[in-house]
Amino acid sequence: MLTNRQLFLRHLGQTSPTPMLLEIVKAEGIYIYGADSKKYIDLISGVSVSNIGHGHPKVKKAVKDQVDCYMHLMVYGEIIQSPQVKYAEKLAGLLPNGLDSCYFVNSGSEAVEGAMKLAKRYTGRSRIIYFRNAYHGSTHGALSIQGSEQYRNAFRPLLPDTIQIDYNDDEGLSKIDSSTACVFAEPVQAEAGVIFPENDFLVRLRRKCDESGALLIFDEIQTGFGRIGSLFALERFRVVPDILLLAKALGGGMPLGAFISSMEIMSSLTSDPVLGHITTFGGHPVCCAAGLASLEVILEEKLIDNCLKSSSIFREKLDHPAIKNVRGEGLLLAVQLTDAEYVKAIVSRAPEYGLILDYFLFCNDSFRVAPPLTISEEETETACRQIILLIDEIVRGR
Ligand SMILES: Cc1ncc(COP(=O)(O)O)c(C=O)c1O
Repeated sequence: MLTNRQLFLRHLGQTSPTPMLLEIVKAEGIYIYGADSKKYIDLISGVSVSNIGHGHPKVKKAVKDQVDCYMHLMVYGEIIQSPQVKYAEKLAGLLPNGLDSCYFVNSGSEAVEGAMKLAKRYTGRSRIIYFRNAYHGSTHGALSIQGSEQYRNAFRPLLPDTIQIDYNDDEGLSKIDSSTACVFAEPVQAEAGVIFPENDFLVRLRRKCDESGALLIFDEIQTGFGRIGSLFALERFRVVPDILLLAKALGGGMPLGAFISSMEIMSSLTSDPVLGHITTFGGHPVCCAAGLASLEVILEEKLIDNCLKSSSIFREKLDHPAIKNVRGEGLLLAVQLTDAEYVKAIVSRAPEYGLILDYFLFCNDSFRVAPPLTISEEETETACRQIILLIDEIVRGR
């Protein structure tokens, strides 16, 4: 009989010559348990998804209760489903004015696609501006505004009328003009290696969009739900976009995305033509129930306070001659090494040290540390100790 590992390689579509290949049987809290009975500290949270850790009882209960009521009923937007309604109301109550109409979809990429269409439809313009080293997803539209040729060039032709500018560089802002439908920005560029805006860059970006009538779209798919130490990055930088994109932690471990705007902007999807965006499963009631439960846990358990506490421990304890810098805030951290060559060995050998670590797509001298926001002080210290041991071994072995 073939093992799961053999079946995985034989029957699952592969995207990498070197997948992690860990076989997992259970996940609870910050821990992931292997089929070999090994226990790993999850230091990436499924790439900023599992913000409240794995298997939280409140989320499991919400999922089970909703499954008992109903699952899929009808394509999005026709039937009043209480998990969607309650979640949209909760989000509107937490977000600034003007972000109170929520269109639920299935993923981050679909939120990007929906937002592109919404911006084009609302402004009557076609040009989309995006940033170098931005990552917004892997569908054709999202790929068209990916700020790296490496991953997209093979898939051309992509969307026309897109322009790339540099993040944290005011020169590019002059490209935003009366032909621009929208500007897509990650308030913190995650896959670029956790790059924060400098000197109020986002404030000037907002101003330029206002002057030219372009919509400002914030992709908070990675930064949302407490990840950088505020519920949303827009609070941290005091800039309100016209459209906000959420996914990843939005679903509390279930697949869910959303694009959120004012009612006025969103209403342009209802006419000429009607059904401006259609999705069968978007806002699945089980996913919305899980997401709402997860958001309530973040608030009730004060996970943002915990995130900030853990963050300062990581910053203090990740101290080693081979560590050049620890970038980021909250629990979206990039550990930059003195030699990019170390990164591959560190990430691939992390499981031997009971850790799950990951790369960034567009930053080869750093690795990602983004554990669940529930991680305790003691667990943070253990994780740091193991990381230092791992780095030590890799550096000494060279
Ligand atoms: C900032 C950002 N935007 C969009 C996406 C795409 O989300 P999804 O993979 O759910 O389509 C990602 C995924 O990593 C992301 O990090």
